[in-house]
Amino acid sequence: MSPAPPAGAAGAVLSAVAWPYANGPRHIGHVAGFGVPSDVFSRWARMAGHDVLMVSGTDEHGTPILVQAEAEGVAPQELVDRNNRLIVEDLHALGLSYDLFTRTTTRNHHAVVQELFTVVHRNGYLVEQTSLGAVSPSTGRTLPDRFIEGTCPICGYGAARGDQCDNCGNQLDPVDLIDPRSRIDGEVPRFVESQHFFLDLPALAESLGEWLAGREASGAWRPNVLKFSKNLLDDVRPRAMTRDIDWGIPVPLDGWRDLPTKRLYVWFDAVVGYLSASVEWARRTGDPEAWRRWWAADAPGGPARSCYFMGKDNITFHAQIWPAELLAHDGLGSRGGEPGRFGQLALPTEVVSSEFLTMEGGKFSSSRGVVIYVRDVLARYQPDALRYYIAAAGPENQDADFTWEQFRRRTNDELVSTWGNLVNRTASMIAKNVGSIPSAGSLTAEDEALLGVVRGAFDVVGGLISSHRQKAAVAEAMRVAGEANRYLSEQAPWALKKTDPERMRTVLHVAAQAVVDVNTLLSPFLPHSAQAVHEALGGTGVFQPMPSIVEVTDLDDPSFGYPILTGDYSAAPPWAPRPVVPGTPVGPPSPIFTKLDDAIVEEELARLAGG
Ligand code: MF3
Ligand code: ZN
Repeated sequence: MSPAPPAGAAGAVLSAVAWPYANGPRHIGHVAGFGVPSDVFSRWARMAGHDVLMVSGTDEHGTPILVQAEAEGVAPQELVDRNNRLIVEDLHALGLSYDLFTRTTTRNHHAVVQELFTVVHRNGYLVEQTSLGAVSPSTGRTLPDRFIEGTCPICGYGAARGDQCDNCGNQLDPVDLIDPRSRIDGEVPRFVESQHFFLDLPALAESLGEWLAGREASGAWRPNVLKFSKNLLDDVRPRAMTRDIDWGIPVPLDGWRDLPTKRLYVWFDAVVGYLSASVEWARRTGDPEAWRRWWAADAPGGPARSCYFMGKDNITFHAQIWPAELLAHDGLGSRGGEPGRFGQLALPTEVVSSEFLTMEGGKFSSSRGVVIYVRDVLARYQPDALRYYIAAAGPENQDADFTWEQFRRRTNDELVSTWGNLVNRTASMIAKNVGSIPSAGSLTAEDEALLGVVRGAFDVVGGLISSHRQKAAVAEAMRVAGEANRYLSEQAPWALKKTDPERMRTVLHVAAQAVVDVNTLLSPFLPHSAQAVHEALGGTGVFQPMPSIVEVTDLDDPSFGYPILTGDYSAAPPWAPRPVVPGTPVGPPSPIFTKLDDAIVEEELARLAGG
């Protein structure tokens, strides 16, 4: 496998963003994990000249959906239709620049998943076995794995789930649990025999190990993600890829296709979404083969760089199950084989996982009402205030805590006082004293020093974003804004109006140049306010393009319609300084960021307490 291209080298980049479950609206922990980091990266990559394809959608199958539908007393399709729309609206309001945000209930997705399953099966990596499944003795119904709880046989943790132990991270089967019980009613399940297809991970283990060793050698992975992924290789067993459930994608094999209670495991289908959404995107652009540029293992010039963004509870599926599905599809395990009509598909280059976001010191819990929904934050605050908080203080490589006090402080001290203030004082002095961007006379050492710092920041900030160190990247951009503020205070152009108007113009020119360039540096993080800053300095037209919600018809089923998120992001500015144009009219600015009153902290805490 070839290593990731160096930062700044143009080429194709796949931004593969984890698919949120459509079992309810998303809270800020979710968008801190997959949402904002993937958008910052994708916006930067487009600006740096890469051909970016950013795809995702809602994850609409499996027990998470079924359990919620049952709890609400609605059909699963009705539940996912409603939540898909809510999630699309929230991600749109945050300004996440997907090329396509779709869903897993499309016919296209079903067909691509079935193609993958068929090829993996044909290559011999899906083995039919009898296994013991849990059934409720009182109702006779199948109990989903994650609704069984017990003691982990590996680490002894008392509240392990039937699919996975959250303490040691190992994947489990319900029958492995010591003292299993139903999480619904505490009932002790009965285990009955059932036929399933198992992904033969042992036959893929060697290839998985080689792939991971190549990823380690690239140096591009976060140490915690790498360590977790390597640990997974210590306990490689066949994993069931079908379930006793009636909601999901039918198993595309004779004798199975029409069984109403056998469906593909939701994780087998969800990860294929990255590919199926790329195919759907290509079909919708009118060039149905265009997806290959991001997927072909033998693409001219090498495979695309693919970065997968998620929270840490998803690592297993992206660093083991999905690469294993791809290797099996490509025929690259110990059983050999041949790819199907998709050709040889490339494995992930980078699995970019964040840690968990807690809230006011505790775990998010929708059921206990300890939750802050994206929708509620965006109803009361600017989207860029939330984006900034996540970028600057989110769970990038350790767990992080969201508090309203920190949200207020960061918004007021950093967005309003540092960045907003720099924009505002620069634009208002120019408006009042000149009316347009002034031209510069001869530059002093101080002028050159500030302009040098600003120019140099493009490589520094871009390199940090490219290597997924967004906290350091946004801090560096804000540090440059701070330098520009200090320059203005020291040069005090307001005192020069009478004594040296020529020098005043030069200082305001340099300040305008710094604002324009810092705005470019901050624009992947703050795309909404970047537009406002652009206009405050006399810019016209779109500066940071935004996604739109488009109502579409399923490509293969005219009776099914749904909203997608998509956009044309080609107008994004290049990742480079843009010389200001003297004479560009500048009027009095209005504030870019809203200062938050002290009282919001108590108001929000009261809302939380009230459920
Ligand atoms: N729905 C899963 C979750 O919310 C994530 C699926 S990511 C996928 O944890 F791409 F694999 F679908
Ligand atoms: Zn355990």
